[in-house]
Amino acid sequence: MAFKARNTGFRIQRRDVFSSRIGIVAAAAGSAVGLGNIWKFPYVAGNNGGAAFILMYLFFIVLIGMPVMLSEFALGRKARRNVHGVFKRLAPRSLWHIVGYMGIGAAFMILAFYGVVAGWSLEYIVNSLSGAFIDKSPEQIDFMFDDFVRSSLRPVIWQLVFMASTAFIVVAGVKKGIEKYAKILMPLLFVMIVILVFRSITLPGAQQGLTFLFQPDFSKITTTSALEALGQAFFSLSLGMGALMTYGSYIGQEDNLGSITLQVSVADTVIAILAGLAIFPAVFAFGINPAEGPGLVYKTLPVVFQQMPAGSFFSAVFFSLLLIAALTSSISLLEVVVAYFVEELKMTRRNATIMAAALISIFGILCSLSLGSVSIELFGRNFFDLLEFISSNLLLPLGGLLIAVFVGWILKGKRIKKEISNNQILHLRFFGVFMVLIKFIVPIAITLVFLSGIGLINF
Ligand code: PHE
Repeated sequence: MAFKARNTGFRIQRRDVFSSRIGIVAAAAGSAVGLGNIWKFPYVAGNNGGAAFILMYLFFIVLIGMPVMLSEFALGRKARRNVHGVFKRLAPRSLWHIVGYMGIGAAFMILAFYGVVAGWSLEYIVNSLSGAFIDKSPEQIDFMFDDFVRSSLRPVIWQLVFMASTAFIVVAGVKKGIEKYAKILMPLLFVMIVILVFRSITLPGAQQGLTFLFQPDFSKITTTSALEALGQAFFSLSLGMGALMTYGSYIGQEDNLGSITLQVSVADTVIAILAGLAIFPAVFAFGINPAEGPGLVYKTLPVVFQQMPAGSFFSAVFFSLLLIAALTSSISLLEVVVAYFVEELKMTRRNATIMAAALISIFGILCSLSLGSVSIELFGRNFFDLLEFISSNLLLPLGGLLIAVFVGWILKGKRIKKEISNNQILHLRFFGVFMVLIKFIVPIAITLVFLSGIGLINF
């Protein structure tokens, strides 16, 4: 069923609902899989020494990410509201709705830098098609990237094109906009990455990259890298700010939230690891610095494509798919803000989308400029790094912590069980484990990693 009319007591509200099981998984996996897996994961793993960081990341995905994801889906579907509305409805007259504001703030910040990085792939599609990478050495390709992000106008224009496309899809609404694209394009991205992995691991000198990825050196784990791994787990799974909560509010009553959680988490993790396998063997084979930072993927992959027949073609296809993966994530970010504007501020969907996208774009422009012509620095970080740090490493884990406490301690266990079991229809074998995780392990683990990561406690 496309639409369900629900009586909210005050008014009849029409709310979009995902029309099929595969559509929900595609949309939620579409939100999770994005630049976080292909751009951010390799570069933070590279900055933090590789394998040991990756192990920690996987540990956080299972122990913290999956229980929080299930909680977000359940809260969203239970309240059928935007992230702010969920807390207002489930805990009226309390301060919990502030978690909603934090989520909306995080969506703003993430989308600001996300749009910039997604815009880079637009430039790279054009460059691939025009043959700009042909016969260029790794050093020249490195230089091209730095030169491009430092120039002011082009990155800003691409970012605006990307934001406009995001807004365009969000105006169309959940079902027509989000579901349709995600269902077809996500599998295609997967195939493309697998091809890249094959090319990369068969390069001469690839072995060192595999060692970097899979042979942990635990002396490289520090409190800051633990916080980075936690932030990356939240960022990659789209958790801690209500994106999956908002999608949860569009999930039908009969769908199995536990199995959706499992599928989305597995898909997201597999793509991140594959991205690592596509990048690091090439990084070492071509003598690129693994701790290169945010440019890592854009500096490495064009070099790999040079080593393939029809490289420019494959390169254009890859960056197009990356762009689409970024789109299916950015729409979930914008949807958090738009759902709030529509439901709480009673704006039309169209106006809400235009206003949100315009405001976020202003921050995005500053973000992009902070990499080059305009120096905006705070706490020793430029505006881009600052937004990335505050959102992924502070707001998302904090949001996740509060969501876990809310589900574990504020809502009654019976209510949450009722939601996850579809009103006792599903038999839940894992419920006991879930409750222990969400009540104790998740809050304690996040608190410890968080406080040590920002230097407030010392082990
Ligand atoms: N998970 C997305 C990615 O990996 C980014 C994202 C973060 C989307 C938070 C929504 C919410 O690219």
